[in-house]
Amino acid sequence: MEKIIVANLKMNLISHEERTRYLKMLRKALTGKDFSGRELVFCPPFVHLEYFSKELKGNKNLKLGAQNVFWEKEGAYTGEISPLQLKDLGVEYAIVGHSERRYILGERDSAINKKVLALLKNNLRPILCIGETSEEKELNQTAQVITRQLELGLKGIRPGFLENLVIAYEPVWSVGTDVIPLSNEVMSAKLIIRKVLTGKWGRKYTEKVRIIYGGSVSGQTIEELCVKPQMDGVLVGRQSLYPAQFIKIAEKC
Ligand code: PGA
Repeated sequence: MEKIIVANLKMNLISHEERTRYLKMLRKALTGKDFSGRELVFCPPFVHLEYFSKELKGNKNLKLGAQNVFWEKEGAYTGEISPLQLKDLGVEYAIVGHSERRYILGERDSAINKKVLALLKNNLRPILCIGETSEEKELNQTAQVITRQLELGLKGIRPGFLENLVIAYEPVWSVGTDVIPLSNEVMSAKLIIRKVLTGKWGRKYTEKVRIIYGGSVSGQTIEELCVKPQMDGVLVGRQSLYPAQFIKIAEKC
């Protein structure tokens, strides 16, 4: 299975200059590097997708991702972006259910589910984020929370589509905080996720689903958060804003 290393650039690169500088640094960081057996997925803000698309073209290990998507194809949905529009730009992946959308924008599991289904139907690959808050962790509810988010987020998926799915375990308390879980906690979340998937659809259909970790990933924490718990990759926030750091993480993963 190819490892997947996702750069979630969030609402950053706020000007033409910043974007140009980022892409220049990225080009430099990638020079002479070979990422066969790995996929590096860049998820810039929508307004930069076209520029990233041009930059990444021609390198089969570098992929384009979106940070969100809407579930309808087209029409009167002010402010939304459709899976078809993403596809037209060369996007292959889309992050869905990120905790910042769940908790700042009030995104519910039912909406997240519609997005997952719409992506799969259009041959795009959802990166579904799940994870417990610090309160839920204190109450020992991690297993319960991630099971519920999986059940609701993945409702109605046809088994044949599952190989395009990526699940990102992102404990909410670790996103943007530099507080990280122990490798055995990451491993145990991964086992719960596998168990839910196999329980629902059987091993044959779900063994290709990649389970990755997200939250305070850096060159220093990658060993504990990805290598030791044998994750299939990582989702990187802040450190992905520094191309050289991100590439270092991808090499260590
Ligand atoms: P972080 O963000 O790496 O800055 O903690 C992770 C994420 O939002 O997925």
